[in-house]
Amino acid sequence: MPGEISVTGRPPAQSPPISLTSRAMRAVFPGSFDPATKGHLDVARRAAGMFDEVVMCVLTNPRKTGRLALAGRLALLADMTSNLANVTVDSSAGRLLVDYCRGAGIGVIVRGLRSLGDLEHELPMAEMNRHLNGIETLFVPTNPAQAHTSSTLISAVAQR
Ligand code: PNS
Repeated sequence: MPGEISVTGRPPAQSPPISLTSRAMRAVFPGSFDPATKGHLDVARRAAGMFDEVVMCVLTNPRKTGRLALAGRLALLADMTSNLANVTVDSSAGRLLVDYCRGAGIGVIVRGLRSLGDLEHELPMAEMNRHLNGIETLFVPTNPAQAHTSSTLISAVAQR
């Protein structure tokens, strides 16, 4: 927007980089996936019904220390999604999610929401990503049956 001030040093996005109507709609479902859970799988399955392709992309979350090695996370994701024909797995390190999306021709980010706490955490990221390159975030409410699962809790239980 004319006169808009950039707080990031990057110019604000003028318009979405990808038309959502004129080409195949690819979405990214990013996360640490350390490890991936049934909740993640539920979100991936539902997103797969809405987009031509959903890429589950393992990224680095600086707020979390890694448990599984990257290869293990990718192998688990590939195994869990093997029956979802339009779900693929990928990884990206040392890059912003928006830069990955630009390079991969992806116009939508999908994130699962378990709670209002999740929304508080996710909303600023969604707004920042949209500011950076116009990319939209689609929030998918998680299945209440899986609301109690998280990678952190599953790892803690598995260690006992
Ligand atoms: O599963 P998580 O840990 O909640 O996923 C968070 C993740 C990896 C999606 C987020 O930390 C992320 O997008 N990291 C990539 C770096 C980036 O783009 N950061 C700026 C977000 S505004």
